[in-house]
Amino acid sequence: MTTPEIAPEILEFYGETIDESERLTASADGQLEMLRTQELLRRHLPSAPAAVLDVGGGPGTHARWLVKDGYTVHLVDPVPRHVEQAPAAGCTAELGDARALTADDSTYDVVLLLGPLYHLLDRDERLQALAEARRVVKSGGLVAAAAIGRYASLFEHTATGWLGTKERVRDAVVDILATGVHEPGRKGFTAAYFHTAEQLAEEMAAAGLDGTTVYGIEGPAWGAVKATEQHTGEPLAEDSPLFTAALEAARLAEPYPDLLSASSHMLAIARA
Ligand SMILES: C[S@@+](CC[C@H](N)C(=O)[O-])C[C@H]1O[C@@H](n2cnc3c(N)ncnc32)[C@H](O)[C@@H]1O
Repeated sequence: MTTPEIAPEILEFYGETIDESERLTASADGQLEMLRTQELLRRHLPSAPAAVLDVGGGPGTHARWLVKDGYTVHLVDPVPRHVEQAPAAGCTAELGDARALTADDSTYDVVLLLGPLYHLLDRDERLQALAEARRVVKSGGLVAAAAIGRYASLFEHTATGWLGTKERVRDAVVDILATGVHEPGRKGFTAAYFHTAEQLAEEMAAAGLDGTTVYGIEGPAWGAVKATEQHTGEPLAEDSPLFTAALEAARLAEPYPDLLSASSHMLAIARA
């Protein structure tokens, strides 16, 4: 297999433009994503110790708590800065690409893809990444893949207020709603794909991952959390009534597939 190439703008975005190591701690909506990802994964993970491959693991944000929980974690990411940062989380790390993993067949108890599907714009490439996850996980092991929701940018830029004030943002939101694609070269984010819940489930099945359950990660109230922080300029504490209500709303929304599209991110869980 030839080594796939990562778009230079994705490497630049994570290597220079933003600091991914702060994304899930610096804002209340990030903290909500972190708490819910943890609780959903902990519900499905095998008991520790077990071997986890964290593909697109970034600077080790999830590896850190997984290692504390007793798992052995190996992280793969295409961004050199992330691979340098990740070992501080207690995992091993290598530069790599979700579409062409170096791991042998059937070697991991768990494979996480919490990021790569965001940045693979072609369905065939996303299926290749999911097929690689399926290849390297043991029979009966867990594959968990996250996607950004199709409507996330609509909700986000309602919360920031930029939908009403910035034409550039409005244009990007209109295109994402229509196509799912944040085009390469556009400002504000990087090349990205925004899934509907149906697409995420369909792609898991097309990659041979059966019995998928799709969860809304942040639930339907994350925009209220984001808007409150944005417009007060004050951090929203995790024990505040609004944050607590948003977390509870995410849990209560789980049995209702109509509400999947209200989350910023979705998590697909399957057994290989
Ligand atoms: C939003 S970050 C998520 C990081 C971390 N998994 C988390 O959930 O906090 C997306 C990650 O996907 C990585 N990524 C992008 N394209 C990838 C690819 N083709 N293969 C593997 N990882 C990729 C990026 O480098 C980045 O670390």
